[in-house]
Amino acid sequence: MNLTLLQGAYIIAGLFFILALAGLSKHETAKAGNLNGIVGMTIALVVTILAAVLGVKASGGIDVQKGAGATGLALIAVPMGIGAAIGIWRAKKVEMTGMPELIAMLHSFVGLAAVLVGWNSFYAGAEGGHHGIHMGEVFAGVFIGAVTFTGSIVAYLKLSAKMKSSPMMLPGRHAINLGIIVAFFVMLIVFARLPEPAAGQVDNLAATLLGIMTVLALFLGWHLVASIGGGDMPVVVSMLNSYSGWAAAAAGFMLSNDLLIITGALVGSSGAYLSYIMCKAMNRSFISVIAGGFGSDGQVTGEAKDYGEHRETSAVEVAELLKNAHEVVITPGYGMATAQAQYAVADLTSKLRARGVTVRFGIHPVAGRLPGHMNVLLAEAKVPYDIVLEMDEINDDFPSTDVVLVIGANDTVNPAAQDDPTSPIAGMPVLEVWKAHDVIVFKRSMNTGYAGVQNPLFFKDNSAMLFGDAKDRVEDIVKAL
Ligand code: TAP
Repeated sequence: MNLTLLQGAYIIAGLFFILALAGLSKHETAKAGNLNGIVGMTIALVVTILAAVLGVKASGGIDVQKGAGATGLALIAVPMGIGAAIGIWRAKKVEMTGMPELIAMLHSFVGLAAVLVGWNSFYAGAEGGHHGIHMGEVFAGVFIGAVTFTGSIVAYLKLSAKMKSSPMMLPGRHAINLGIIVAFFVMLIVFARLPEPAAGQVDNLAATLLGIMTVLALFLGWHLVASIGGGDMPVVVSMLNSYSGWAAAAAGFMLSNDLLIITGALVGSSGAYLSYIMCKAMNRSFISVIAGGFGSDGQVTGEAKDYGEHRETSAVEVAELLKNAHEVVITPGYGMATAQAQYAVADLTSKLRARGVTVRFGIHPVAGRLPGHMNVLLAEAKVPYDIVLEMDEINDDFPSTDVVLVIGANDTVNPAAQDDPTSPIAGMPVLEVWKAHDVIVFKRSMNTGYAGVQNPLFFKDNSAMLFGDAKDRVEDIVKAL
């Protein structure tokens, strides 16, 4: 294969990836964005495999990369086929509610791949006489990969409730994190300055340093994410997304693959920007979250307080309330996703609109378990985009709203975020639903939400609880209308 052709194909694939990211930033263009991503990845895979099998020649017939031939093709095709089959099976099987943990798991694979590529690259040695630079790439690549690997596994365990979502508070945890980072830089300098061993030989000191750093980085990834509380998990997921991008870019440097560097950098920087936006939306310090909760003493209570009695209502009563309403706002949360209530909610919305009631949706930036989770569900149920508003767009309108239907949301409508400085979610902006005339909360019990804190909203005079599965209760209301 010709080098110019390979590089041209890589540039085209890179452009498709940029178009994919641009498309994914808006509802209307998200599908096209996804399609661009698929096209880009197909081009990338085809030309990379062809280059590996056929080899790459520069102009004048000089060999840039030797072809691995039919054996190479088989070595690529078999694991790829097995991986693709597992991937298709998992993607088909996964519920929308299980997506965050699946994504966290996939991030861990990118991290693990970077660690393996790094170790392999260390044993293979530098090509073309850039030993010091090569060693630096290996050391940094393994470090980022290992942090991403264990951090993503902890995120997976926390998101799938296999591990407690409350932050783990080791004594001296900030000193531990800082110590590992300082040790990384010191070892990096020593590692990169070690003399190049003779061909086929491995420097024992280098292997020991790389081994120690791998263990430390695996511990750091686990510790950083375990130290972060439930309310900050959304930022952690997007941050690990960013780390997985940098891990891929590092692998790209080690494999001298330009497209992997470009793609990794795109994922890394867009993930970092998403983390920054989410931190801003949740009023959290970006540096504090990426440093494993640095700056917070972790002494948040979230303990049970006596907020008084709650009031219960029925689907028939809610239907009556809605018949007389002019302005209705629906604030969905994770419970709408678990109940798969979006179709019933869309049905209720169109019935109310047909009766002349103004219905709008208020979406909290971290409602559900994925960035854009609620938007995806509502789009799936064909709720018109123009009535789906962001939290900042709707928060001032609650005082003039007749009825708010809180469908399976909890933390994102919790007034304790504003009123209780000791709350784990203190400072997080929330949907101020309690300012409306009537608030109906759809949930199955008085249980807490993801952050594990009580919600005083449920005990306010203008709030009433409609217990049961959100889908069933919404369908009951539709019938009663
Ligand atoms: P949550 O605070 O998680 O509360 C969801 C509520 O839904 C629960 O209180 C639950 O109460 C109810 N529920 C569950 N299944 C239900 C069903 N079948 N029918 C009716 N209700 C049901 O939800 P939220 O307000 O969307 O907040 C999201 C939380 O997740 C935030 O703390 C956020 O930080 C965190 N988080 C978000 C993300 C992203 S990126 N969005 C990622 C990780 C974590 P019952 O059990 O009583 O029914």
